[in-house]
Amino acid sequence: MSLSSKIAVVGSGYVGLVAAVCFAEMGHDVICVDNDEKKVAALCGGEVPIHEDNLPELLQRYCNTRIRFMTNLAEATQASDAIFIAVGTPQSETGDADLSYVEAVASEIARSLDSYKVIVEKSTVPVYTNEWIRRVIERNGVPQHLFDVASNPEFLREGTAVEDFLHPDRIVVGANSERAARILQDIYSPLTSGAYYERRDRIPGRNSVAEPPALLLTSTKSAEIIKHASNAFLAMKISFINAVSNLCEAVDANVEQVAKGIGMDERIGPKFLRPGIGYGGSCFPKDVAAFRSVAEQMGLDFSLLAEVEKINNLQKKRFLSKVRSALWTLRGKRLAVLGLAFKGDTDDIRESPAIDMVRMLLAEGCSICAYDPAAMERARQVLPESLQMQYVSDAYTAADNADALLMLTDWPEFSRLDLDKINQALRYPIVVDGRNLYDPAAMASHGITYMSIGRPTVSPSRELASDGVDRL
Ligand code: UGA
Repeated sequence: MSLSSKIAVVGSGYVGLVAAVCFAEMGHDVICVDNDEKKVAALCGGEVPIHEDNLPELLQRYCNTRIRFMTNLAEATQASDAIFIAVGTPQSETGDADLSYVEAVASEIARSLDSYKVIVEKSTVPVYTNEWIRRVIERNGVPQHLFDVASNPEFLREGTAVEDFLHPDRIVVGANSERAARILQDIYSPLTSGAYYERRDRIPGRNSVAEPPALLLTSTKSAEIIKHASNAFLAMKISFINAVSNLCEAVDANVEQVAKGIGMDERIGPKFLRPGIGYGGSCFPKDVAAFRSVAEQMGLDFSLLAEVEKINNLQKKRFLSKVRSALWTLRGKRLAVLGLAFKGDTDDIRESPAIDMVRMLLAEGCSICAYDPAAMERARQVLPESLQMQYVSDAYTAADNADALLMLTDWPEFSRLDLDKINQALRYPIVVDGRNLYDPAAMASHGITYMSIGRPTVSPSRELASDGVDRL
C-alpha cells in the first residue's frame, strides 16, 4: 500500500489546480497556494474557475478535506514534503519564457524552509531553470542539505487534463539526487504500482492494473528538455500536415486520405495529423518560441522551429483567402462563425486561431455572428460586442441570413448539425470549414457548397464519387 505524502502546489491555474486535485485523488494531503485572494476564496467555496471534465466532481469530493486552498506560502511550505511550482511562465517580448513568477516563488519558499524539502518544477520552463531555482534558494541562505530541486513536467491537455494526469502515457521525473527521486516515486506510486486503477471510484481512462504508466527517471536538464521537445514535436507534426494539406489542395488530392495513409505507419502514428487553421492555445505557440530561443542562446540554429511557426501563421492567411474565394469580396458580408476557443471542449481562447480569424475578418469589413458553446464570455473581453461583432446562443441563429458559415473550432456538437436547417438558415448555402468536420459528400447532398482544408471543394451541382472527392 502506498503512503500518503504531504504536498504543496503553488499556483491554481490549469496545471496547478489539476495537479492539486489529482494528487488528492491519489490519496495525498494537498495544500494549493495562490496569491489571488479572490480566487482562493472561490476555490474554498467549491467554485471551479475553468471548464475541465471531472474537475468539479473531484474538487467537491476533496475540498477542505484532502485539499485545502490558502494564500500563505510559508505555512504551506512548512507543512509539506514536496512543493510543486506551477505558476505561469508567459512569453516575453523576445520569445523567451518570463520566469519572474517562478523566481519570486522560489525566493519565498527559501525564506520559510526549516527542514528538508524537494522543490519541483511543474510549470513548463526552459532548460537551466532548475539550476537557477537552486541558486536563488542558496542565495537566500538555505544550506544545500535542506533541499533538492527536481523537474516533473506535465503533459496534460486542456479539456481532458484530469484524465491525462491520472492516466498518463508516461511520468517524467528529473532528479539529481536519490532522495528527491524517491520522494517523487512515492508520490506517483498509486499510479505506477497500478493501485489507483483497482479502485472502483477511479476516473476511467487508458491505464489499468495490468498496464500502469511507466515513470522515466532522468537528469533535471533532460526532463526540462523533454517537455519543450514534446510540445515542439507535436506542433511540428501539425505544421507538417498543414503544409501537406496545401499541396493536396494544389493537386486535388485529399489530405484526410493522405494523413490516414501516413499515420498507418507505426513509426509515424495517426495522432496530431489533423489539418486545420493552425495550432493555438497557451502552450504550443509559447513553447515553440521558447525552445527556439533556448537553442539560439546556446548558439544553435534550430530554424526548423521557425518554419513550424511560419507555416502555422500562413495557415490562417490561407483560410482567409479561401473565404474570399468563396465570397469574392468581403467588405459588408455577414458571416456566421462557429467556434472561438482554440480547440473544442475548452473555454480557453488564448492564442486561439479562431479569434485571430475573426479579427482578420472584422478588419476586412465583415460583420460576424458568432457562437461557441463555452468560450463566448472570454471572447467578449477581447472582441467586444458591437454592430459588427455579435454573439448568439446556437449555431442556427448564427447561420440566420449569413452569406456563409465558417467552422473555426472542432467542438463535437459542430459535427452533428442539422444540415438542412443550416442550409435553410443561410442566405447562401456556403460552408467554409477550417477543421474538416464533415464528409464533403454529405455536405453536397444537403445542397451546400463546402470548402475545407486540403480537400477538393464540393458544390451540390457537381457529381461526386462515394468518397466525397470531386474529380471533375
Ligand atoms: C498541449 C499538449 O497536447 C499537451 O501534451 C501539453 O501538456 C500541453 O500542450 C501543455 O504544454 O500544457 P493543449 O494546448 O491543451 O495541450 O492542446 P492540444 O490538444 O495539444 O491542441 C493544441 C492546438 O493544436 C489546438 O489549437 C488544436 O486545435 C491544434 N491541433 C491539434 C491541430 O490543429 N491538429 C491536430 O492534429 C491536433
